[in-house]
Amino acid sequence: MGLDTTIGAPSGRRLKFAAFFAGALFAAAALAAEEVKITVETPYVQSPDIVVETMLEMAGVRADDFVIDLGSGDGRIVIRAAKERGARGFGVDYDPRLVQLATENARAAGVSDRVIFYQQDIFKTSLESASVITMYLLPEYNLNLRPRLLALKPGTRVVSHDYDMGEWAPDARRTIPVPEKKVDGGKKSTIFFWVVPARVAGKWRSALPAGGRRVEFELEQKYQEISGTATIRGRRFELERPVLRGDFISFRLDDGKRTYSFSGRASAGRMAGKVGLGERAYRWRALRSDSGPRRAPGRAPKPASASGATGRSSL
Ligand SMILES: C[S@@+](CC[C@H](N)C(=O)[O-])C[C@H]1O[C@@H](n2cnc3c(N)ncnc32)[C@H](O)[C@@H]1O
Repeated sequence: MGLDTTIGAPSGRRLKFAAFFAGALFAAAALAAEEVKITVETPYVQSPDIVVETMLEMAGVRADDFVIDLGSGDGRIVIRAAKERGARGFGVDYDPRLVQLATENARAAGVSDRVIFYQQDIFKTSLESASVITMYLLPEYNLNLRPRLLALKPGTRVVSHDYDMGEWAPDARRTIPVPEKKVDGGKKSTIFFWVVPARVAGKWRSALPAGGRRVEFELEQKYQEISGTATIRGRRFELERPVLRGDFISFRLDDGKRTYSFSGRASAGRMAGKVGLGERAYRWRALRSDSGPRRAPGRAPKPASASGATGRSSL
């Protein structure tokens, strides 16, 4: 993009970056998952262009997206998202020189009408307007931010250069060769991608098509991993092939006689979509029959086994 990159980390600092990151990774992993304290600030290191492009591609950034880069450096991620993909967005960095540089780079790239850069602390930045969050931050930053990311609108995409989110497993990851990388002896980068999952843990009341038998679903959730049971007339069945991606949910229920294929969208108190039964599809909806999600998606207990459920017993 021909961006001015003269404000870089001093070379000695940059050389220490990889070793420091490696140490910090283990330190962060050892900390409790909640309330991760920031012990060391993330220094300025640029994501190479190929990494930026891969981040935007994995996040599927389009013209209707709003991208927030946390720790925006020279602005390259948000600027590229606007210039190459027509997105809007902002970046925040606490270094005023970098905010100034990013602002100049946005003007030079002709995208000042769609992007803006603020001198602001990442941890005091409101993230709610984002459809995509990008970051290249130390591991403990990621872990500290994780609860706030999980609280965002389901379907919000998050992409991180080189560092993961601890026990929140990525939905996708890609490692690419980066010959020009200055901070990693391996000359490669890994990009991690997540979709913020809806909160579906709890009890849901619904009805089965073709007969209207009442069914209660009970879902357990750990981040985007879900499992659960269906109770029909006192009999419990394990849900099969459960999938949660953003607010999209699907699972199958085999009551021993028939197989129902549910899919739909989940919101706070309602799930709705269609259910396939044999050759036919029916509309389906479920309403919460408990008081709602009591925990963030990452804090659910391990899925309980469906005691008494065989998934194959006949009614
Ligand atoms: C590794 S650089 C990434 C720059 C850019 N996102 C990229 O990928 O090329 C991290 C950036 O975060 C900024 N930063 C670190 N801690 C911050 C904080 N608490 N608030 C705002 N910016 C911060 C640093 O100044 C630095 O520019």
